[in-house]
Amino acid sequence: MSQPSVNIGMVGHVDHGKTTLVSALSGVWTDTHSEEMKRGISIRLGYADATFRKCPNCPEPQCYTVSRKCEGCNEPSEELRTVSFVDAPGHETLMATMLSGAAIMDGAILVIAANEECPQPQTKEHLMALNIIGIKNLIIVQNKIDLVSREQLIEHYHQIKEFVKGTVAENSPIIPISAQQNTNVDSLIQAMEEIIPTPVHKLGKHPHMLIARSFDINKPGTPIKDISGGVIGGTLTEGALHAGDELEICPGIKIESEGTTRWKPIMTRISRIVAGKEPVDQATPGGLLAVGTSLDPALTKSDTLTGQVAGSPGTLPPTHDLFTLELHLLERVVGVTDEEEIGPIKTSEPLMLNVGTATTVGVVTSARKDTAEVKLKRPVCADIGATVAISRRVGSRWRLIGVGVIKD
Ligand code: GTP
Repeated sequence: MSQPSVNIGMVGHVDHGKTTLVSALSGVWTDTHSEEMKRGISIRLGYADATFRKCPNCPEPQCYTVSRKCEGCNEPSEELRTVSFVDAPGHETLMATMLSGAAIMDGAILVIAANEECPQPQTKEHLMALNIIGIKNLIIVQNKIDLVSREQLIEHYHQIKEFVKGTVAENSPIIPISAQQNTNVDSLIQAMEEIIPTPVHKLGKHPHMLIARSFDINKPGTPIKDISGGVIGGTLTEGALHAGDELEICPGIKIESEGTTRWKPIMTRISRIVAGKEPVDQATPGGLLAVGTSLDPALTKSDTLTGQVAGSPGTLPPTHDLFTLELHLLERVVGVTDEEEIGPIKTSEPLMLNVGTATTVGVVTSARKDTAEVKLKRPVCADIGATVAISRRVGSRWRLIGVGVIKD
């Protein structure tokens, strides 16, 4: 498998079939955590890579496949490209995870189950998130077509058309599939080839990796001499990483002493890189990668470093524990049954902020109509000008209310 070159998000309402579709395309079940297995919902972002292939003999769309041999004529298929899927959770309480995932998506598939009325709350909330984060390369999948009649499917298609009017998805193709029965998945691969291009990355720049997951890969009881260093997973937005490179991770680790708290960047060295299931000497932007380090795995276990940024020492964006945001608020709260209006942001109110793959909570220290200064509970490493997704507590949940741009 070659290195993945593009990240494709799988978004949509809970149980509409995102994980099943990733599995149909890649043969990997992304709900790997035991707790996720138990609860049956994707809690963290799931990862899976798939290589799209094309049969040189068969007509479109049947020629598109993920198999090495064409199912139609049994001849070998030719490799097109490898993609990474970011399987975002559809449960309403896991919106922060969905938003961190959206930060690394180059395009997305909005999965909508055909056997339920459209839109369901998180179908709406996820589309709104993609809309305001600015992900334009979108495909809509009408899943579970095996459960409905032709008439119901057409009626559902019209509901989708009505729902996406005026959004980024207005002109997106709507592809009817059954992820479980592998029906029409070839047309979906064709659509991804046509609609979600591989982004042109800036290779000559300093490496900049957004960390989406971090792990301790050692089994309990591993002898000390066999212990592998901590592993970080995520995507490179620019530059390249090599085995042996020095790495700085910011904001780093929290140090509390004499009543004060500060964050100290972590310095380490890359021991190995895995991209597209294979070890590689050099990782380039696009796609998801896992980077082995010389860190104590206690520092990386259980997603401890999720939301941090890694790169060459001395080249990372600034770490902020306070910033001013230029505000762009939505008119109404989406994803709830009664969509109330969004009032102005007020001093002292808590906000949930997603910056890159980081999720943090901040308290507004001063607010005007178009700007707010926010003090963060947990600092974030981000460029001035970066986009921040802003959520507010409505009832017992955080709801997306708009975006901000970091001014200083
Ligand atoms: P979250 O990750 O929890 O948001 O759910 P999800 O969207 O990933 O849904 P998942 O893939 O876990 O599927 C939910 C249920 O729908 C499972 O029981 C699947 O077997 C079933 N399912 C998925 N796709 C199809 C389909 O095409 N047809 C039918 N009949 N069932 C499907």
